[in-house]
Amino acid sequence: MAESRSAPVLEVRDLSVLAATQPILRGINLTVPAGVILALLGPSGAGKSTLLRCLNRLIDLTPGLRVQGEVRFHGQSIFAAGADPDALRARIGILFQQPAVFPASIRQNVLFGVRHAGRVPRGDWPELIERALGEASLWEEVKDRLDAPALRLSVGQQQRLCLARTLAMNPEVLLLDEPTSALDPRSAEAVEHSLLRLKGRRTLVLVTHNLAQARRLADQTACLVVREGAGEIGLPDPDLDRPAPTVGEI
Ligand SMILES: Nc1ncnc2c1ncn2[C@@H]1O[C@H](COP(=O)(O)OP(=O)(O)O)[C@@H](O)[C@H]1O
Ligand SMILES: [Mg+2]
Repeated sequence: MAESRSAPVLEVRDLSVLAATQPILRGINLTVPAGVILALLGPSGAGKSTLLRCLNRLIDLTPGLRVQGEVRFHGQSIFAAGADPDALRARIGILFQQPAVFPASIRQNVLFGVRHAGRVPRGDWPELIERALGEASLWEEVKDRLDAPALRLSVGQQQRLCLARTLAMNPEVLLLDEPTSALDPRSAEAVEHSLLRLKGRRTLVLVTHNLAQARRLADQTACLVVREGAGEIGLPDPDLDRPAPTVGEI
């Protein structure tokens, strides 16, 4: 089905998340157009990770949280009865702050989700590995040692390996939860470089503390602020731009 490029990929409508009766997020509205990088800013504790985890229903896995309101992916409610969270998570991948590689080879790490989903024939795996590692800007560094233990990679390479593992599923949307904040400047720059290369090809929602990073990468920004104990969409706090990142200007 042909789809207009400007049609939103994700629409968040009046979304609230509550822990028992305590709201964590209140009345969130957000539209994510196709192919953009949308940066989600806000102070620690404002609910950025919680909002991100709503977008692919990872929130379902946290007991005790209640979600109200609507998230639509290509116009379809992701929380509707009958919606399949596993299928959704294959199309909307996520990358966390800390790289979580498995104690296995680089190759096995890339293939992890693909094998589990069982959708790609074994004969296509070599091409898929090269494509995913290439998109994550890691191929050139590891192509001669795909069977080496992933844990031997530097932390920055491990984060790009996690990115490759997510990209191997060919997701349309990538959710990134402070993906460079655990990295040294050089590794952060490599991750930023690979995110920039994804721009236009996939839709990215990037949670970052770092206003300079948002400026370098994002087409659009949204900011969560805390009002009466819960995160709402608001204007950025002018103090947000903390000590400048050491990543070079792009
Ligand atoms: N499972 C949970 N139960 C209760 N409170 C939670 C839970 N998860 C997060 N919170 C609270 O929600 C608020 C927002 O958390 P989080 O989404 O992690 O913020 P951020 O990513 O912006 O730092 C915090 O006050 C946190 O303590
Ligand atoms: Mg967080």
